[in-house]
Amino acid sequence: MIKIAFYDTKAYDKPSFEHYGQQHDIQYRFLETKLNEDTVELARDCDAVCVFVNDTVNKAVIDRLYELGVKLIALRSAGYNNVDVHAAFGKIHVVHVPAYSPYAVAEHAMALLLTSVRRIHKAYNRTREFNFSLNGLTGFDLHGKTVGVVGTGKIGRIFIDICRGFGMNVIAYDLFPAEGSGITYVGLDELFRQSDIISLHCPLTDETRHMIGKDAIESMKKGVIIINTSRGALIDTEELLEGIKARKVGAACLDVYEEEADIFFEDRSGHILNDELLSRLISMPNVIVTSHQAFLTEEALNNIAETTVNNILSYFNNDGICDNELCYRCGNVEKCRQGRKERCF
Ligand code: NAI
Repeated sequence: MIKIAFYDTKAYDKPSFEHYGQQHDIQYRFLETKLNEDTVELARDCDAVCVFVNDTVNKAVIDRLYELGVKLIALRSAGYNNVDVHAAFGKIHVVHVPAYSPYAVAEHAMALLLTSVRRIHKAYNRTREFNFSLNGLTGFDLHGKTVGVVGTGKIGRIFIDICRGFGMNVIAYDLFPAEGSGITYVGLDELFRQSDIISLHCPLTDETRHMIGKDAIESMKKGVIIINTSRGALIDTEELLEGIKARKVGAACLDVYEEEADIFFEDRSGHILNDELLSRLISMPNVIVTSHQAFLTEEALNNIAETTVNNILSYFNNDGICDNELCYRCGNVEKCRQGRKERCF
């Protein structure tokens, strides 16, 4: 029996994880709380912890998990910026779900863009009140517009295909351009200057934190639309708000927010929101915020559960070897493991 402390459990997690877990010898300890230094003790007696994007897996948490005898940190997400892989190396193995449905995220990015450009959010509210006026709902054609895609990995490339289907002109920036992909790569500064729409699909790293800040926004076209379905801290939110107030940024479509950890995923409708920046953003007519839901499709949830369970089984039943292990050693956390096909430490 493999015992898993399952942190930050949401109602939508249980059916798929129970389904795949029942087929194997896995016992979950479902916990609603997030993992952090105060809650790490709840993993006592467990073989592994299963965590999501807003759990805190820093050095202190990792050290305590190690002392408790926990062997594996199983992320049920693709992004792993919340895990200190440096600190984990040599102590606890870390696995993630590299791809569960890149379509879910790319399609959500386009849904946000279309909603914003065609004012669907406004129209929906109006017609529910039998207000059939079209005043203020004028949008613009996406056809012929230039979209700048930052990060041309799994999600970025699908988003590019979707944009091409709309007849948009696509330019892209990636630290590691995909050769022979037919994608038109430009420098980041040029992408900012040329794009009518900018969509972020790169990971959050020290290098990409606040990549959209004051200078970047100043260099953009007036009326630019910024879409972020990646990680909140790619954008300096205060500067984004300034850009919106100055009418430089035409619209923002945000599925993620840099201070989302204590806000998103919960019903806070009965409470006063103690986040001035987010309140101000949400109050803007040209800002659409969704609560980190880009991944939330049935296909993605099934894939997340199936891959996470397989990662766990692979680790415990396959001599510690798991293709989806994140290893710090080679400096390339994803590729090193796959190249060597042996235990990471
Ligand atoms: P991926 O690993 O397939 O692609 C990421 C791309 O970003 C790679 O091509 C990489 O070379 C590039 N990149 C790395 N550093 C860069 C830099 N400094 N500048 C520009 N490009 C850089 O990842 P995938 O699956 O496409 O996911 C992208 C991001 O989407 C994830 O890191 C995650 O943060 C986010 N995500 C958000 C979800 C949501 O529900 N909102 C769900 C899943 C992922």
